[in-house]
Amino acid sequence: MIAALAPGKPKAAVRAAQLLGSDQRFKILEGHIKKYQHRQDALIEVLHKAQELFGYLEDDVLRFVAWQLKLPASRVYGVATFYHFFTLKPPGAHTCVVCMGTACYVKGSRRVLAAVEEHAHLKAGGTTPDHQLSLLTARCIGACGIAPAVVYDGTVTPRQTPETAVEHIRKWVAS
Ligand code: FES
Repeated sequence: MIAALAPGKPKAAVRAAQLLGSDQRFKILEGHIKKYQHRQDALIEVLHKAQELFGYLEDDVLRFVAWQLKLPASRVYGVATFYHFFTLKPPGAHTCVVCMGTACYVKGSRRVLAAVEEHAHLKAGGTTPDHQLSLLTARCIGACGIAPAVVYDGTVTPRQTPETAVEHIRKWVAS
């Protein structure tokens, strides 16, 4: 657990604390890192989880991972850029991540995903030809209590239905 902000704290620790407070996916990622006991040799697994949660590995995410694993940022960037399955930029201007973990699946995430796929003429993992929307799936984003959950442009949104999901992405998809 990161201690509260305090004067004299290293800049990276201050930023990490801000991230933890601003986006619950960082908390989920922190929990995942704890499961690996902050082991540096778990870097690839941690980056996989991070990409699943965020859709891609943005700068803040890479720095957060570096800080949590006590690795130089250069090492984390090096690994993230070396492997082709990691992506550092969002392919689309907007992202929609449908959670397909057990709790969300049981509550209908498959229908939510199907509705988005149909409306956007897009399969999970793809991006619309105009690069406006990328559609991704995750196994569990740690929000099972509000299943089925969908993350729209970084905002975890509770209890989605096919209708609410289509409503959310409608503005991003040319009809
Ligand atoms: S299964 Fe979807 S948030 Fe856990």
